[in-house]
Amino acid sequence: MRRIYFDNAATTPVDPEVIKVMHDALQNSWGNPSAIYSEGRNSRAAIERARKAVATAIGASIGEVFFTSGGTESNNMALKCAVRDLGVERIISSPLEHHCILHSLDFLKKYEQVEVEMVPLTQNGRVDQQALADLIKASDKKTLVSLMHSNNEMGNMIDLSAISVLCEEHGALFHSDTVQTVGYFPLDVSKTKMAFISGSAHKFYGPKGVGFVYINGDNMIKPFIDGGAQERNMRGGTENIYGILGMAHALEMAVKEMDERRAQIEKVRAHLIDRLKEAFTDLHFNTDLDGPNHYKVLNVTFPESDKSEMLLFNLDISGISVSGGSACSSGADQGSHVINALPNTVEGKAVRFSFSHHNTLEEVDVVVDKLRESLAVNKPVGS
Ligand SMILES: Cc1ncc(COP(=O)(O)O)c(C=O)c1O
Repeated sequence: MRRIYFDNAATTPVDPEVIKVMHDALQNSWGNPSAIYSEGRNSRAAIERARKAVATAIGASIGEVFFTSGGTESNNMALKCAVRDLGVERIISSPLEHHCILHSLDFLKKYEQVEVEMVPLTQNGRVDQQALADLIKASDKKTLVSLMHSNNEMGNMIDLSAISVLCEEHGALFHSDTVQTVGYFPLDVSKTKMAFISGSAHKFYGPKGVGFVYINGDNMIKPFIDGGAQERNMRGGTENIYGILGMAHALEMAVKEMDERRAQIEKVRAHLIDRLKEAFTDLHFNTDLDGPNHYKVLNVTFPESDKSEMLLFNLDISGISVSGGSACSSGADQGSHVINALPNTVEGKAVRFSFSHHNTLEEVDVVVDKLRESLAVNKPVGS
C-alpha cells in the first residue's frame, strides 16, 4: 500500500526534476568554484545563476542573497550577526518561534546581555500587533523584531507588510523566519522592507542541508563562518554546488507553479476540515481559520482518551505520516512548545496535518477513516 504523507511542513519529497538538476550538477559542475581554471569557472557560473534565480524569486538584488546550510543557520546568522555587527541591544520575538530562534535568543540573552522581549499573543494564537507596537516604542535601544511569517506548527501568519512598516516607522530592524512561506506565497523584499529573511530548500521540494539568507544591503554584517572568501567573504567553506543548484531549480518551479499547487492543496485541506467536522464532535482547531493562515497546515486537537496517546504511532502503522509538533519533536512526540504557548490551548492530542500538491481528496478520506478507527469514534458519518 502506498503511504500517505501529510507532514509536508516537516519536509517535502525532492521533486524528480530537482533530482535531475542535482545529478547533472554532481556530474558536470564538480570543479571548485574558487579555482580560476575552466572547471572552477563553470561551477562559479552555475552558482551565480542559482543566486540570480533565488534573488529574482524574492525581489532581492544578487548581492543580498547568501547560501547557507538551511533555515537554522540562516536564522542563527541573522540574529547573532545583528547583535555583533549592527549594534542590536534588544530583540522582540514571540514564544511561537522555531527552536532555532528561541535557542539563539537564550544564547544572546545569556552571553551577549541582549534584552529579549516576548510579544503577548491574542486569544486565537497570534502576535498582538498593538502590544508589539507598544513594545517597540517603549525603548530607545537599537531593536530587532524577529517574527516568523507563518508558524510551522499551526500555520497562523503575521501581516508581514504591516509589521515591516511599523518597524521602519520606529527605526527597528525586522527579521522574519520565512522558511515555511518561501515558494508558497509571493515575497518581495523590494516592496516589503526587511533586514533579513531566511529560506530552506527542503520545505519546497528541494534537498535538505541547503538554504539562503537575504540580508538587506543597508545592513551588511561580517562573516558568520570564518574561512575562505566564499559567499563574498560572508561564509567560508567550499560551496554545496549540487544543493544550491537543486534549491534554485526547486524555487523557480515553486514560483512558477505556485497558483496550481496552492489550488490543489487548498482543496485537500478544505476537504479534511469538512470531513473532520463531520466525523468528530469535540475537535479543537489550533489553526486560527478566521485569520490569515498557511494553506498547507492544519493543526487539530483531538479529545484526550486512552486511544489518543498512541494515535501517531497507530497512524504510522496504518501507512499515514502526520506529526504532533515540529519536525524536531515529531519523532519523540513530547508535545509542542507552540501549542503549549497558546492562550486557548485545550487538553488532548494535537496533530499537525500538512499538505503538498501531491496529496488527494481520496487520501483525506482514508486518513479520516483511520482516525475514526484509531480513536474508536462511533459517531455515524454525516450525523
Ligand atoms: C519555521 C522554521 N524555521 C526554521 C526551520 C529550520 O530549517 P532547517 O531544517 O533548514 O534548518 C524550520 C524547519 O523545521 C522551520 O519550519
